[in-house]
Amino acid sequence: MEKELLFYQAYEKFYEMAACSEAFGAFCRDAFGEDFSQDGFSDINQIQMILDYVPERKDIHILDIGCGNGKMLGYLQKKTGAFIYGFDYSENAITTAKQLFRTRSDFVQGIIGEINYPAETFDVVIAMDTLYFAPDLSEFVGQIMNWMKKDGVFFVGYQGADI
Ligand SMILES: C[S@@+](CC[C@H](N)C(=O)[O-])C[C@H]1O[C@@H](n2cnc3c(N)ncnc32)[C@H](O)[C@@H]1O
Repeated sequence: MEKELLFYQAYEKFYEMAACSEAFGAFCRDAFGEDFSQDGFSDINQIQMILDYVPERKDIHILDIGCGNGKMLGYLQKKTGAFIYGFDYSENAITTAKQLFRTRSDFVQGIIGEINYPAETFDVVIAMDTLYFAPDLSEFVGQIMNWMKKDGVFFVGYQGADI
């Protein structure tokens, strides 16, 4: 079986588990300080750092690339009132995100390199442990810059030193 398909299936299983496992929620709270169904390593301090950079004005738009089930965005929305956008290629993840966060939100199943947004849409873009999946990293970062407003902020969680 192709490696990409195996990865996809693994993420489908992961988000199916995350949607119903109380033990996993408890693990995330213990390990990271908040349950965002982390498959990455974002803890509450990192998210607090993002909040410090969200502009203090109305009508903020935040995008999470590889948003999983949207819990991180839901937290940011609770704190800022932002309109939240997320995409992820996992159908299970996006199904849960749509169920959990119905207000001022736009969650879509989408693939890095294929999905697109209008230019200058976002005040804040986050990509936690997800940029590795870009087929062409430079091209994708260029696309993200185009999606952001001129004074937008881009937060990247990336393990490894080769970015
Ligand atoms: C390591 S997880 C990080 C998830 C989340 N951002 C976090 O911090 O917990 C990577 C995420 O990217 C998604 N993903 C993987 N490849 C993708 C692709 N080609 N396009 C869109 N999403 C992808 C996975 O479904 C998963 O939710």
